[in-house]
Amino acid sequence: MERFFDVGPLAGRRVLVTSGPTHEPIDPVRYIANRSSGAQGTAIAEALRDLGAEVVFVTGPADAARPNGVQVVEVQSAREMHEAVMGALPFEAGVFAAAVADWRVASASDAKIKKIGGKLPVLEFAENPDILREVAQLTDGRPALVVGFAAETNDVVENATAKRARKGCDWILANDVSPATGIMGGAENAVVLISDGGAESWPRASKRAVAEKLAGRIAEALGAVVR
Ligand code: CTP
Ligand code: CA
Repeated sequence: MERFFDVGPLAGRRVLVTSGPTHEPIDPVRYIANRSSGAQGTAIAEALRDLGAEVVFVTGPADAARPNGVQVVEVQSAREMHEAVMGALPFEAGVFAAAVADWRVASASDAKIKKIGGKLPVLEFAENPDILREVAQLTDGRPALVVGFAAETNDVVENATAKRARKGCDWILANDVSPATGIMGGAENAVVLISDGGAESWPRASKRAVAEKLAGRIAEALGAVVR
């Protein structure tokens, strides 16, 4: 589909969204992953597109249908996502909605690991690059606005506030993903926006409505940036 990026408050502005899980191979037939449908990241990419932005959408192997009218970059692992994001610089705003696996299997096997003689495999892990942190802490070419997510199951605001400081990002959207909330895999989200201005709870709403609100805030924030 052909699109023209000349209308809307974000016309001509390049933004990046990461979305979905990453898959970290154990061997050619097995992997470890985080739970993520990709629904929230996809909705954010669509909402930014609808405001006229030129969107680069870097997605792991998510179930959600890919958004139209954006540049889709498909990746599998965290290291591939890292490479795709760094290769997409410069962009003015980055929204890091992906559920990136923190660890990969240190040496994935080229051949299928066989179940022989009841011997249990032992996996060694290595830490993946922290993509959000790296982009937020760029000294040269840092995007004007870097937005992370914090999926927490307890002490949501405290944990997310500490995470924002640790990562060096501008905003964190914190959400409570305890099973009882039904947010993981569901159509709704309830987030707290953590910024310099403190913590602002947004009412529970569809992931699409949350995305539209976020896109509006991003447009406002970028409007204040002198280009
Ligand atoms: N993130 C990332 N690269 C990673 C890990 C996380 O870009 N290797 C991003 C996520 O997309 C999200 C934010 O960082 O926007 C926070 O992810 P989260 O897993 O909550 O944070 P961690 O620092 O990994 O902390 P935790 O120990 O809670 O997993
Ligand atoms: Ca993590």
